[in-house]
Amino acid sequence: MPSALEAKSGATLPDRQLEEHEGVAGKDLAVYTRLCGKRKFFTDRPFAKKALKLGVRSGNALDLGCGPGHISAYLARFAPKSKVWAMDISPEMLLHVRENANKAGVSDRVFTTEGDMRWLPFEDNSFDLVVSQYVFHHLPDLDVALSEVDRVLKPGGALLIRDFVRPSADLKTSFLMKMAKFVLRVDEEGRKQYKESLLAGFKVGEVQDLIANSPLTKTSVKKEFPSQFLITRKAPVERKTSPISHERAGRILAGLAVLATLTLGYFHHPLWFLPALGTCANLIFSGITDRCAVRDHLLIKLLGLPGERDIGREEAEIGRLFR
Ligand SMILES: C[S@@+](CC[C@H](N)C(=O)[O-])C[C@H]1O[C@@H](n2cnc3c(N)ncnc32)[C@H](O)[C@@H]1O
Repeated sequence: MPSALEAKSGATLPDRQLEEHEGVAGKDLAVYTRLCGKRKFFTDRPFAKKALKLGVRSGNALDLGCGPGHISAYLARFAPKSKVWAMDISPEMLLHVRENANKAGVSDRVFTTEGDMRWLPFEDNSFDLVVSQYVFHHLPDLDVALSEVDRVLKPGGALLIRDFVRPSADLKTSFLMKMAKFVLRVDEEGRKQYKESLLAGFKVGEVQDLIANSPLTKTSVKKEFPSQFLITRKAPVERKTSPISHERAGRILAGLAVLATLTLGYFHHPLWFLPALGTCANLIFSGITDRCAVRDHLLIKLLGLPGERDIGREEAEIGRLFR
């Protein structure tokens, strides 16, 4: 039965049209890597952050169909205690992965593997986190790939897969093409590839059925704007570290010290300058050591607050980039 949109536009619902090639090579590769470079900040970076919010920030991660490897590099950057395996069927893509991992300064923790995601060259229960973006629409047989994901993912491991929802009408496809042209400034060749990918995508219901019939448990499927779906599985969250780092504790203490200075000054107390002195010492020490001076403060030690870097927060990453 046609959807309401189809009935209104008079357009037909397209069946899934698989792309001709599996890997990305030659001319396609140049077009695709250019496109990835443009959109990585809007798609790959938030995708990596979303994946790391699923409860795993260390251990082994696998990026299936990694393309030029921006997601792998972001995962390694945002989770400094992780190792990331970037896997793709295309050896040319893997050259870009190495280049991009080098540029991001994470080449010691991003490993490339050439292979087909339907026959993963990894042992059972190898990964704490598996991610994959815009790859499943390349495959005719999703169920095989999902079984492989289940096999290599540790019990309790996290999963994030994003791919295209097949548009339900020509009208919707042309809206997405316009967005690609005017918002993302994608050139004609790139838009052609994007359209082919959309038509090879899935209906959310189809993906839900696939997941229900796969060995993957505790996995949800939902639609995401503009025309994508997300397959998600959270890890049981083990909060070993405190959400308040010593840097944050230091900033809170500094704020309280300034407040105390102002209060004591207001009441003309003779010791008004003591809290201000403490704040200055804190700032100078943290400026010199790049770690908050209160790190070795007895109270912080007793509370066992970890550093931003120990937690793998992006805040620490930004500090690293500016040094
Ligand atoms: C559209 S790109 C997506 C790349 C990357 N994940 C991203 O988000 O930019 C699809 C990638 O999947 C790879 N690919 C296609 N079929 C594959 C398969 N069966 N096994 C592994 N990789 C595959 C292609 O070579 C290509 O790099």
